[in-house]
Amino acid sequence: MTAFAPEMMQDIRSRFAHVESCPFQGPRVFFENAGGALTLTSVVETSAKFAALPDNQGRDNPAAQALGQIIKRAKSDMACFFNPKGGQFFVGESGTELTFRLIRAAAMGTSAGRIIGSTVEHPASRSAAQHWAEHTGKPYICVPHDNATGAVSAKAYAQHMHPDVQVATILHTSPVTGIANDVAAISAAVRATAPQAFIIVDGIQHASHGRIDIASYDIDGYVVSPYKVFSRHGYGVAWVSDRMNGLPLEQLIDGPATNWEMGTRDTGAYATFSDVVRYFDWLGSRHADTQDPRQRIEAAGAVIHAHEKTLTAAMLKGTGNLPGLAELPGVTILGGVDNLMREGLVCFALDHIPAAEIVAKLNAHGIRTHIRKADHYSGNILTPLGLTAAVRVSICHYNTLEEVAALLAAMKQIAAPAS
Ligand SMILES: Cc1ncc(COP(=O)(O)O)c(C=O)c1O
Repeated sequence: MTAFAPEMMQDIRSRFAHVESCPFQGPRVFFENAGGALTLTSVVETSAKFAALPDNQGRDNPAAQALGQIIKRAKSDMACFFNPKGGQFFVGESGTELTFRLIRAAAMGTSAGRIIGSTVEHPASRSAAQHWAEHTGKPYICVPHDNATGAVSAKAYAQHMHPDVQVATILHTSPVTGIANDVAAISAAVRATAPQAFIIVDGIQHASHGRIDIASYDIDGYVVSPYKVFSRHGYGVAWVSDRMNGLPLEQLIDGPATNWEMGTRDTGAYATFSDVVRYFDWLGSRHADTQDPRQRIEAAGAVIHAHEKTLTAAMLKGTGNLPGLAELPGVTILGGVDNLMREGLVCFALDHIPAAEIVAKLNAHGIRTHIRKADHYSGNILTPLGLTAAVRVSICHYNTLEEVAALLAAMKQIAAPAS
C-alpha cells in the first residue's frame, strides 16, 4: 500500500477545516498534528449545533431524551472504535485530567504495593503515577526506555517487575519520538508477574493513527484527547474496565456506584466523537468491501498507517531529487531512521543550527512544525541524547507527499552551508 491516490486525497482533505491555510497566517503546510490534529468539518457543525441547545440530559422532555440517545449512540460508537471487552466510556476535562483520575483511582483503591511506569512517558502519566505513588506510600518503579529506539520494551518492564505491583502505566506512542510501544506485550509482561495490576494506557498521541484494539491489550484504562484525533478541544475520552468500576470511586452521596462522570456532560462532546468514528467508518468503507463497522474502522487504520509510512519514509529518505532529513549533515533522528514502530512523526536536530531557528525558518516558508525543548515535557527523551531541543514534524493521513517535498525543499535551503 502506498500513498492515497489524488482523488482519494482530495476527498479526505475536503472533510477537514483549515487544511491549507491558517486564519492567522494564511497558506501553510500543517505539520503540527501532534500538537492538535485538523478538525473535521462535521465536528465544527456539530459543535455549533449543540452549543446552541439550552437543554440538559435526564429530564422528561423531548430534547433531554434526544440528548440521552445521542450520548448512548456515542458510547456505542466509541465501543466500535476502541473495541474493548466490557467496561465503560466517559468524558472528562482533558486527556491529562483523565489520566490523573484513572491513576488516582487505581492507586487509592488498591492495598500496599508498587506502581510501575517508564521514562518514555509523557508527564501526564509519569507525574500522576509519581504523585499518587508518594501519596499512597507505594514505591514507584521507573523502567528505562531505550535511547536508540525511543521506545520502552516488554523485556525492560519484565526486568523491573515485582509481584506486588498494583498499578502500571504504559505510553502507547510518544509525541516526542513518534515511536509506538507494544502495549499488548508490555501488559503481558506486567501480568506475568502481577496479574492483579491495574494497567492504564496513555493513547493520546496514538489515536489519530488508528488501529486501536483495547480487547487485545488486556488493560484497565485507555485515555485519548479528542482534539488530537480530529475532534475539538475541551474534553477527553476514557475507557475503564469492569475491574476499574469495582474500585471505590469518588461519588455524589447516594449517586450511582459506578458513575465516573462528574457533573453535567456536554452532549456536544459525545456527538463530536461520533463524528470522528463516522469519519473512520467512511474512510474504511472506501477501502474495504464490508458492512461490518468494526472491520471498516480496522480498514481505515490500515490505510492510514500505510499512507503515513509512505510520508515519513519520504521525509527521512527523500523524494524526487530532494534529500531526506536523515541525509542532512549533522542530523540526529530521534528513534533512528528505520524504525518500524514510527507513527506519523519525525523529530530531528541538526548539530549546526538551533532547533528554534529551524522552526522559525520553516514558518517563514509557510511550514508549521514545533520545537521540543529539554523541559518538563520532553527532557526525559532529549537530555539523555545530549540534545537541548529538536524539531518535531508531525503528520496525519491528510498530509500529502507534495507537502513533504515542500518541507524537504525548505530544509535543503535552511541546512545549506552559508556562502
Ligand atoms: C502522549 C500524550 N499524553 C498526554 C498528553 C497531554 O494531553 P492533553 O494536553 O490533551 O491533556 C499529550 C499531549 O500532547 C500526549 O501526546
